[in-house]
Amino acid sequence: MIRVVVLLSGRGSNFKSLLDANLPVEFAAAISNRPDAAGLEYARERGIPALTLDHKAYPTREAFDEDLAKTIESVGADLVVLAGYMRILTKEFVLRHEGRLMNIHPSLLPMFPGLDTHARAIAEGVKIHGCTVHFVTPTLDHGPIIIQAAVPVKSDDTPDTLAARVLEQEHRIYPQAVRWFAEGKLVISDGLVNVRDDNVSQWLLA
Ligand code: GRF
Repeated sequence: MIRVVVLLSGRGSNFKSLLDANLPVEFAAAISNRPDAAGLEYARERGIPALTLDHKAYPTREAFDEDLAKTIESVGADLVVLAGYMRILTKEFVLRHEGRLMNIHPSLLPMFPGLDTHARAIAEGVKIHGCTVHFVTPTLDHGPIIIQAAVPVKSDDTPDTLAARVLEQEHRIYPQAVRWFAEGKLVISDGLVNVRDDNVSQWLLA
């Protein structure tokens, strides 16, 4: 079984959805950059090492990411999964984990990279919004797209109601992306992901 390390900063609902999905993987550790991240509790409950590297204790982003990479290496990871990890990673860190570093982002990339995606989607008047799982490259919220799911934007949506509708889909597609990775079904070529699965389209629409 492949070993997965999860990085998170907060609530951890995506981490929980991975834990609940019965994936053919071993969770080697959950690592938070915030000591009080609620999501670490899901690891503790299941006897998975729950580690904290407090970014405030490091003089630079580079020093922090260097230690983070060393910690991941000491635990041993075939795949590093960002699940609400709210820190920008250095280019060095990203390149070191190229092709085995995944993120989930709450928009249909390449639309709305960055923060406040739901409020921005409402402000733009888009009628369809959603979420994306992608491999991480040095450009923020960029990189080969693995899977997406779309939801309608309703006329009375607030950022919170829209976020809740999208989050439900996040919990559906992230486990699927990790499953595909574990099964060796994701092939990156020319900067795009090819999924070796006949049923890919069933995941796209909520
Ligand atoms: C999710 O919306 C995810 O897409 C974004 O941050 C949020 C994390 O939520 N990257 P949770 O911590 O997984 O509950």
